[in-house]
This record gives sequence, C-alpha cells and structure tokens, in this order.
Amino acid sequence: MKYIQAYLQRLQELDDQQLLRHLKLAESPCDTRMQIDGRSMLTFCSNDYLGLANHPDVCAALEKGLRLYGAGSGASHLISGHSHAHEALEIALAKTQAAHIPECTAMYFSTGYMANLAAITALTIPWTVDDSVAIFSEELNHASLIDGVRLAKQQNKADSFVYAHNDIDGLEQLLKASSHSQKLIVTDGVFSMDGDLAPVRDLLDLAKRYDALLFVDDAHGFGVLGQNGHGILEHLALSEADTAAHLIYMGTLGKAAGVSGAFVAAHHTFTEWLLQKSRSYIYTTASPPHLAHALLSSLHLIEQSPLRERLQANIALFKKSLQLQHWSLMASDTAIQPVVIGENGMALQVAQQLLELGVWVPAIRPPTVPKNTARLRITLSAAHSTEDIQKLVQYLMQIESDLYA
Ligand SMILES: Cc1ncc(COP(=O)(O)O)c(C=O)c1O
Repeated sequence: MKYIQAYLQRLQELDDQQLLRHLKLAESPCDTRMQIDGRSMLTFCSNDYLGLANHPDVCAALEKGLRLYGAGSGASHLISGHSHAHEALEIALAKTQAAHIPECTAMYFSTGYMANLAAITALTIPWTVDDSVAIFSEELNHASLIDGVRLAKQQNKADSFVYAHNDIDGLEQLLKASSHSQKLIVTDGVFSMDGDLAPVRDLLDLAKRYDALLFVDDAHGFGVLGQNGHGILEHLALSEADTAAHLIYMGTLGKAAGVSGAFVAAHHTFTEWLLQKSRSYIYTTASPPHLAHALLSSLHLIEQSPLRERLQANIALFKKSLQLQHWSLMASDTAIQPVVIGENGMALQVAQQLLELGVWVPAIRPPTVPKNTARLRITLSAAHSTEDIQKLVQYLMQIESDLYA
C-alpha cells in the first residue's frame, strides 16, 4: 500500500496544479474530422500536416506491403529483420538529402525518439581516453533530444551546455570557452511547440568555425519545408559545400509522412558509425516492413503532390484572419500555429470550450512549455478546407471576447 498511497498523492498534486494529463480515445482514423466520444470533431491537433495518415495511396501501399512482407520483421535489423522494404526506403530517404549532404546515406529508425537517443549517444562516445565531449543544446529542444543529451552525459561522461532560444551569440560564447576535443550542437529544425525555425545556416557556420558537429531534428520540417518537401536543408538551400560533413540530419516519418518511424541522413561514415553503436537501433526489433513500404508511397506524395501549396494557403489564411486582443500568435510561418494564453487553467478552459463546439485543439502546459506560456497548439493541415480554418478563427475570437467581456 505504501507505493499506491504515495503515487495517489503525487497524482493528486498534479491534478491540483491542473497538470494531470488525460487520454482521448479516437474512434476513427487520423483526419481533419474524427469521431471522439461518439461525436464528430473538427481537429487541429495532429502532426499529419499533409493529410497522409489516412490517404488512400498510403493505405493501399500498406496493404500491398503486408502481402509482400507479412506482419512483422521478426528480429532486429542486424540479425535478420532488415528487409528489402527497409533498404529501399533508406535509399529513397538518402536521396532527399543528397543535394545538401555530401556522400549521404540514411538509416531508418522505429521512432524519432529512438533516432535521437541513438544519434546523440553514438556521436558523443569519446574517441580515446584523452578525448572530452561537449554537447550544446538549444533551450527549446524536444524532450527526446533532451533525453539523448541526458543519456550521453551518463554513458559518455559528456558535458552539456544549454543555449538560449536561437541565441547564436550565446552559443558562440559557449563554443569559444570550450576546450573539449569533440563538440556536438543539437537543435530542433522547426520548434515543436513554437513553430519557428532554427537558424541552421548560422549554426552550421559556428559548427565549422569551432570544429563541431551539428545535429538537426527536422521532425516538423520534413515533408513540409522546401521545394520538394525535403525539409529545412532544402528550404534554406544549403549545399553540400555548406554542410561539409558537419551536419547530421534527422527527419521523422510519423508526422507529415503520415506513417511511423524516423531517419538519420548523414555522410556515410556517420551512418556506418551509428549502425555499429546505436543501441536503440541495434537492440530492438526492426519495425514491420510494410510500414517502410507504405512510406515509399508517402515520399512520392510529398514530392509530387500540390499538398504543400494547399497547406501554405491554409497557414496564410489562418494568420491573416485571426485577430486577438489578449492572447497572441507566435512568430511562426509553419503548420504549427500556437496561441499563447499563459495560465494553465485558462488554456484548459479554452480547449474545453472548443471541444464543446466540436473543435479539438490540445492545450499544452508546462513542463512541455515554459511556465506561464500555456498555449493552444494549433496544427494546420493541407486536408483542412477554407471553411474549417474560418470556423476555428471565428470560435477563437468569440471565446476570447466572451472571456474578457
Ligand atoms: C521535434 C521532435 N523530435 C522528435 C520527436 C519524436 O518523434 P517520434 O514521434 O517519431 O518518436 C517529436 C515528436 O514526437 C518531435 O516533435
């Protein structure tokens, strides 16, 4: 009973601070209209930015993959679980970054969380007993990057330093002061709770000047940014010469690509090292091959379809139409459009009022975001219609004006 009592008390404390999290049960596929508690809801909460999670082509490819490869991989990649589908996907993924990263190859991971743990820990193993390692981590990095840094500190005795959000000068001071022989800068590409972009060109410049590696987690940029949807490196037109084997790219495949998994793309020397040393790749069953097969179809849709243009039009419409007096939109041009409300209770109340109106938007509270910046994390999709966006805007403005009347 001691443990039950203790956890009940901790849970009550979370509830008192309005920090208790609850699951919502989706009774239909991920889409802009979803069945929740028997009701059809208009949704602005998934990371399915292009509407691929329930796209007929992707679903058909998944079924075909199932017939070709069966349900499970049966083993880890290095034993017997690495199928032709995984290999074909890795080749296709490497091509998406090949114009930006010299001699680029890619590794497919089961999740972005695992890819981040893998890359950060493998790339911070000291080369010799005389080497020392420092990690420079952006303040707003995703939890999976933070956990990767924590693990690297434990496993590799790496030192870690946090620099303020997009503070290039602050980072330079830290790099200048470091006498470590191996340095790794770690950043989100698109910040997952704010929607703004990391200054990757400036970060790369610093990485080269201070002889560091730069790891970019482009979970929310891959599929969305760039002329072909290849992500932030394409968006910033970074050439092979610009990255010059200093950049390790990570993209996830459960968001804009609509399925599941993630990849690391880098100069083949780095991916070969990851293959040898990534514990979260080596010691886990390879993901079901039909997922990789379906992802080939996602890649095709990302590159060929006008879905990204439709998404951009929705983002522009939302930003232009929403006029707020007390809350604020963040400086984001991406599909992540947070409305900062501030206080946890009020953010929850607004999310609840939207739910009652048939609109599902998640309220995000600390510790996921800094204190007093609780927000509605609105995510837009190419699959939203103009009327969907207008409805959300109208409801938000109405709720705000009623609350402050
Ligand atoms: C920036 C960022 N990195 C990594 C992840 C983890 O990716 P995955 O969901 O594939 O584990 C997420 C979200 O889940 C994310 O937002």
